[in-house]
Amino acid sequence: MQTFLRKILISAILFSVSPFLCYTQTPSPDTPSYQFAMVRNISDSFENSLKLNPPLDPINLDLAKQQHEMYIDLIQQMVSAVVRIDADRNHPDCNFIEDTAIIVDDIAVISRMGAIERRGEEGAVAQILQELGKNIVHIHSPGTMDGGDILHTGKHLFVGLSQRTNEYALEQLKSIFQGKTEVVGIPVANSLHLKSVLSFFDSETLIVADTKEAKVIQSNIESLTNEYTFVSVPDVSASNVLRIGSNLIVQDGFSASEATLQDLCNQKSVNLIKIDMSELIKADGALTCGCLLFN
Ligand code: GLY
Repeated sequence: MQTFLRKILISAILFSVSPFLCYTQTPSPDTPSYQFAMVRNISDSFENSLKLNPPLDPINLDLAKQQHEMYIDLIQQMVSAVVRIDADRNHPDCNFIEDTAIIVDDIAVISRMGAIERRGEEGAVAQILQELGKNIVHIHSPGTMDGGDILHTGKHLFVGLSQRTNEYALEQLKSIFQGKTEVVGIPVANSLHLKSVLSFFDSETLIVADTKEAKVIQSNIESLTNEYTFVSVPDVSASNVLRIGSNLIVQDGFSASEATLQDLCNQKSVNLIKIDMSELIKADGALTCGCLLFN
């Protein structure tokens, strides 16, 4: 094993007994479980992260770090190993590792991120994925892609066409996944990413924000296929959920959305787990943003 990967894996946190979870429910067969989660520490420069709007209260860096640690603690109880990368002070958004790559089976597509400030975050991620045996493919200029715009349901790879991800990247993704999975472009308006307003619950159920723009996204998908049921939640921040096996991680602090998600979890025998990520939300961070999940 190469030195770099060995160093990373020394810090991999192996499966441990959970203080949070009761595995009393049977995972449904159509929900992915993962061997690996890759995460990245929060940079000391996180307060300078990109933001669509300045937050009303400034980011509390210490609290952001605590919340990110809680998130990593939670995920480590749901996967076999967490691969953790040091923060990069030159990249205040580096903890939002989801944007750097997408991984489908043995293929890892490395982003050319839409925000110039974020380019360079992907290097360390690509190196580890390569050492873990993934086939590395890069998005090339003029293509731009952020992983937050990519929603893979198992049946479709939905590609949000946003300010960060463009048609050139969509064409490259169609070529990369030709014959493997259907790649579909979905225009995204007034959101950072597609997954800011739409996320995966299971292979037949998607969570969508109750906004005009998100409903247009829903309509676009419905005009293509009737394979999905959409569950609408009133809070935009709550529309990004993180599904790992029989667990659904949701944002704490959004009670109306939580009630809807709890009902869905009850129907589908899924464990709902709440986590407070208030400081990450201030930097437009969502629950899926903080990890790359793969086998
Ligand atoms: N702050 C996350 C992003 O703008 O990409």
